[in-house]
Amino acid sequence: MSKSDLSAAEAIRARRSIKTFKSDPVPEPVLQELLSLMQDAPSSWNFQPTRVVMIRSQEQKEALAAAAWGQKQILEAPVTFVFAVSIRGWEKNMDEILKTGVASGAWPQKFADWIRENAPGFQKGLGDREREYAIKDAMIMATTLAIAAESKGLSNCYINGWDEAKVKQIIGAEGDKNIGIALVLPIGTPAARPKHPGRLPASKTIFTDRLPSPVI
Ligand SMILES: Cc1cc2nc3c(=O)[nH]c(=O)nc-3n(C[C@H](O)[C@H](O)[C@H](O)COP(=O)(O)O)c2cc1C
Repeated sequence: MSKSDLSAAEAIRARRSIKTFKSDPVPEPVLQELLSLMQDAPSSWNFQPTRVVMIRSQEQKEALAAAAWGQKQILEAPVTFVFAVSIRGWEKNMDEILKTGVASGAWPQKFADWIRENAPGFQKGLGDREREYAIKDAMIMATTLAIAAESKGLSNCYINGWDEAKVKQIIGAEGDKNIGIALVLPIGTPAARPKHPGRLPASKTIFTDRLPSPVI
């Protein structure tokens, strides 16, 4: 962390969805720190289903922008992150994850054994929602990156507007049912900062103990 970094609260307040970026590259040490911060994001069971692809070449930027209805942030930003998920990746990675948890001293062997016994049933019980659960983890990782980047003066834009099949093809996962796409996130120096578009009053979105009835 350098002295000029914004605090988490400052970064959250500063963040806006940037629609136009300068072409300035992200300095390599900053990029590496962002990757490390992003990788520290939590995930359900610590199963870490998110697979992140950094889009940096002109050819890939053009392909991704085309898959995202021509959104020019992707063309302009020096790097765009595609947050994909490996929905069943945990089946292959669980052993390594449990071993690491025990070796680090964070998890007693008993806890690791409990996960091994219970997590597979939990995951299978999710049925179609297994993808949704993986997407939650990816969104947490993406948000971690977005705030970390903002803290370093690098802005971004969450992007949902893309064709999933095309994005999968671009990152090399064409037709793979195990892979889902959560989000596209260009990062860079903003060429213009939009104003805050405002939020609904908290009285409409934040409650204590129960939702009101009816919910609007
Ligand atoms: C999940 C998600 C998907 C979004 N998708 C797009 C998008 O495809 N293109 C875009 O220009 N903005 C997109 N936005 C930005 C929103 O329009 C923006 O966050 C909202 O208007 C509030 O503005 P602010 O982010 O500056 O506070 C998305 C935001 C989120 C959280």
